[in-house]
Amino acid sequence: MIPIKNSDEIRRMRESCAIAATVLARLKAQVRPGITTYDLDQIGRDLIASFGARSACHGYQLHSRRYPAHTCLSVNEEVVHGIGSLKRVLRDGDIISLDIVVEHDGYIGDNAATVPVGAIAPRTAELLKVTEEALYVGIKQAQVGNRIGDISHAVQTFVESHGFSVVREMVGHGVGRAMHEEPQIPNFGRRGSGERIKPGMTLAIEPMVNLGRYQVRTLSDGWTIVTADGSPSAHFEHTVLTTDSGPEILTIPRAA
Ligand code: MF3
Ligand code: CO
Repeated sequence: MIPIKNSDEIRRMRESCAIAATVLARLKAQVRPGITTYDLDQIGRDLIASFGARSACHGYQLHSRRYPAHTCLSVNEEVVHGIGSLKRVLRDGDIISLDIVVEHDGYIGDNAATVPVGAIAPRTAELLKVTEEALYVGIKQAQVGNRIGDISHAVQTFVESHGFSVVREMVGHGVGRAMHEEPQIPNFGRRGSGERIKPGMTLAIEPMVNLGRYQVRTLSDGWTIVTADGSPSAHFEHTVLTTDSGPEILTIPRAA
């Protein structure tokens, strides 16, 4: 069963999502050549704390491992779940995906974006643009009466029409009290498949798109997912509330 949020839960989701989005916006502004991903993670940790929230990633358990960082910072061929490191210095021409998941007052907000570091290759710039557009193409399908597969199908079709590929091993998800609730929201699939969308669902829609082939593997740190062919990968994500008047993006930053 996909959880349906009541008005009180939606109020809390709005708050945690606004915090997640504001942290993401401020962290994006810190990206520049010469900074380490460790420093970015520390800035992210401090930003999250400044809103009285906590990182939902820090200590997140998967197969007896606990995620050690506060944010997920994935550079170039890293798809998701990269761990900030003093050894990883950002250079002109890199891209970096920032994934921020916060918990506040019992509810979770989840969002991500990929940004260029200085000047990047033209095809990589296209990858970023198409992946962000794919997110909005997917969100547009989060209509009451549609099915989850309509989101998946729209994202896949759009991405592949531009010659890029969608990652299959990781998926979007419902989000609320837990970081991962039902349903799973793959970035590939058939129109009309999956559960029907009802008002009051909070969904994390998150295309992960590779410039080359879709296959991925996990590094020996047990977390970092990288493209198998070493090609760059991009990731954009919003938490969305489904309503009778259409999808509403909850991960919108607060005015400064
Ligand atoms: N947004 C990521 C997800 O939905 C965050 C994972 S946190 C981590 O899976 F701890 F797994 F890194
Ligand atoms: Co997510």
